[in-house]
Parts: sequence; structure tokens; C-alpha cells
Amino acid sequence: MAKILLIGNGAREHAIAWKIKASPLLTGLWMWPDHPACSSLINTPTNLGPTATHTEIADFCKMTKIDAVIVGPEQPLSTGLANILENFGIPCFGPQQDGAQLESSKSFAKDIMTDAKIPTAFSREVKTETQCRKEAIAILKTGKPVVLKASGLAGGKGVFVCFEEDEVEVALIRLYENMSEAAETVLVEDFLEGRECSFFCLIGKDSYTPLGFAVDYKRLQNGDEGPNTGGMGSYTPVSWLPADAQKRVLAEVVEPLLKTLKYKAIPYTGFLYVGLMWHPKIGPQVVEFNCRLGDPEAQILAVADQRDWLAMILKHLGLHSEPLESPNEDLKPTAGVVMSSLDYPYGEGKPGRSAELPLELFAHQRNRQVFAASVKFAENHTVETGKGRVITCVATAEDLDTAAQRAYHLVETVQEFWPDSHFREDIAQNHK
Ligand code: AMP
Ligand code: GLY
Repeated sequence: MAKILLIGNGAREHAIAWKIKASPLLTGLWMWPDHPACSSLINTPTNLGPTATHTEIADFCKMTKIDAVIVGPEQPLSTGLANILENFGIPCFGPQQDGAQLESSKSFAKDIMTDAKIPTAFSREVKTETQCRKEAIAILKTGKPVVLKASGLAGGKGVFVCFEEDEVEVALIRLYENMSEAAETVLVEDFLEGRECSFFCLIGKDSYTPLGFAVDYKRLQNGDEGPNTGGMGSYTPVSWLPADAQKRVLAEVVEPLLKTLKYKAIPYTGFLYVGLMWHPKIGPQVVEFNCRLGDPEAQILAVADQRDWLAMILKHLGLHSEPLESPNEDLKPTAGVVMSSLDYPYGEGKPGRSAELPLELFAHQRNRQVFAASVKFAENHTVETGKGRVITCVATAEDLDTAAQRAYHLVETVQEFWPDSHFREDIAQNHK
């Protein structure tokens, strides 16, 4: 039986809250920062302001007798929330600052992958724009694309895949003018061929539980055109992967990673996200690690997975010792479509008119669920849409084509309230 504080107020955390709310082990749920679309899932608001410090969060946990904290986003982990909670003796599902570097420093992640002999793209670290341009152009001259990556956190917007010199120049402006802190170190990386997917695990001190694979649609526009985004849609399961895909990722990536972290005395408890490029001959190659679930992958996995995530999380924190019920581990065919404001991802151009969405939209319907981020309280049981990726429409069915159709029906419903929204029309259309 557990009282949980869930950190984060995105659509991913909406999905985690919705998922753990269904667990018989949950006795109380709090969320910080406030999530206006989750008011029916939580006990009471925390009374912590939006800028609460890690210590204030820990104090709240003590006062409210929170049994465990689950951290959704990477940012509080990279600034040491789990370290502070540990000092207060509060179990935290999410790594401490050193483990969180798997995501907060692409350069750290690359070094760990090299040490652990995890298959990944070769990369060079550069510290200046001039050096970056030189290395990138040298790779383009070999006839291959090049990938430029800000080493620090950039909200999913710090990676540029460039096929031509013009694209390198655009990337250099973004990196060195718009995100100079994250781009203090830049990785100039070889381009990996293959098909992209991600793999998710819950990691505990001495064990882990695989959640499964999902495909995310990173580009803004249909047909994988336009800039990279945080993710415009997702589906699971991934039937185009070979039958032994999970076995291979565990053996070639997850286990060597955990072994190397242990060897380096870096403890790791929490979500693990493995971004992969799957090559038909080579198999899995790691694009990135994150210390959180994906967004929108979390939204579809929460709906697709029939297991009790809270029970699994508590077990990995050593707070639940009963054997876990093991219902069907198969993920139900599930698709999710993201709806964003019109100025996403760079805040350029007009955002479009915001909309007031009725709270009933977020009530669970059979096989369908709408999740929200970036909304604020409005009058008459509505929330007002903000900027960025706001809504994820998720649906399940016996097969993925029907799941996608259902998700798009949900999109139509939301669109009636929010016509000035952007979404891709081809999510889960090429899943075979
Ligand atoms: P990341 O933030 O590292 O996941 O990168 C964002 C996206 O850029 C990935 O999801 C891939 O689509 C693409 N990408 C990153 N690194 C590479 C690479 N080495 N080769 C090909 N594509 C890449
Ligand atoms: N959807 C990709 C991510 O969460 O990074």
C-alpha cells in the first residue's frame, strides 16, 4: 500500500498517473507541479509552488508521509532531486545525478557505451563552432550524412541530421546561438542506417523489468518531413522487429550497461529508455539513453501494458515483496497521436488560437484515452490549451490499423474544440 508523489506535469506523467491510479496498491497520489487535467486522479494539490526546491519537495514528502516518489521528467533528476530525497530517506524511482548523466550528457553516455562495448555510432567531441563545421563537412565529403548533437539537455531539440552543407549551417545557428549552454560540447556523429524504435525498462537495484518496444514519429510533418520534435505519435508492439529483438537488446545493451554502471559505482534505479536504430544485418545500435519514459511512448505503453506498473516500481524500490501477478505480458496493439500548437517546435510563427477543452475529454473510455500537457485551469470544468505538444490521443484494438483509426477519431473530437492544432496524419500507417 503506497502513497505516491509523482513529479512532472506532462502528458507522460498524465499517463503514469492514470496507470498507477488503477493499481490496488495505491492509497494516495499527489502530483507536482500541478497538472490541471489530472484533478480526478490525485488526492489534493500539493500546495508546493511551481518553483519549489528539491528540499521543499522532500519536506512535503515527509509531512505527507509519502512512501515513494516517481520522477517523470529528466530535468529534476539531472539537478539532483533523487540525491536530496535519498538524504531525507525517501525512496525515489529515478536515478541520482550521476546516473541521470546517461541522458543529461550525451558525451557521458557515449563514454559508458564505449566502455560497455554497446553498439552505437562513432562520434567526435567538439568544443567550438569552427571545429564542429570542419568535422561535419569532412564527413559530408565522404558522401555520408552527419549528425550533430548538443551534449547537454535540449528538450529533444538538440539533434540535427544533416545531408548537405546548408543543413549543417542551419544546425550550427541553432546549436551555437539558441542553445549555447547545452551545446558547450557537441558530438559530431556518424549516421546510423536502419529503422528506429525504442525500448523501455524499469530498473531496480538488482533486477529489471522490460516494458517493451515502441516506435515514435520524431519529425513534425507527414512522411517524416520537417524538423525533429519530441515525438508526434507512437505505436506498439513493433512487429517488424525480429522475434529475438528483446533478448538481443537485453544481452547487447541493457545488461552490459547495468554491469558497467555497477563497475563504476553509479547506482541506477528508475526508468530506462533505450533509443535504437535497428539495422537489418547488425541488429540494435544505440542512438541515445534517457532516464525517463518517452513522450508519447509512455502514453501508449501505459494503455497497452496490462501489468500493474506501481507494483513493479515498488518491487524495484524494495517496497513490495509479494510475488507480482503476471497477467499477459503482451502489449495490446496501441497507437497514439500527438496534437500540438501551430508554432511547435521552435515557437516560431503564430501559435494559433488556444482552446478550452472539457475535463470529460480526459475520462477513460473503453479502448480510448486522451492525455494532456501544457494546459491550465479554466472556467466551467475546462482546461485551456497552451503551447507545444498538448494532447495525445491513444487507442487500443485487436490490431494496430484499428487502433490508429480509433486514435484519429479521438483527434477529430479534440479538433472540434481545438481547430488550431497540428498533428501528423500518418501515425502507425507503416507499422509492418
Ligand atoms: P536523439 O535526441 O539522440 O534521440 O536524436 C534525435 C533523433 O535524431 C533520433 O531519434 C534519430 O532519429 C536521429 N539520430 C540521432 N542520432 C543518429 C545517428 N547517429 N544516426 C541516424 N539518426 C540519428
Ligand atoms: N519521444 C521521444 C522522447 O521522449 O525523447
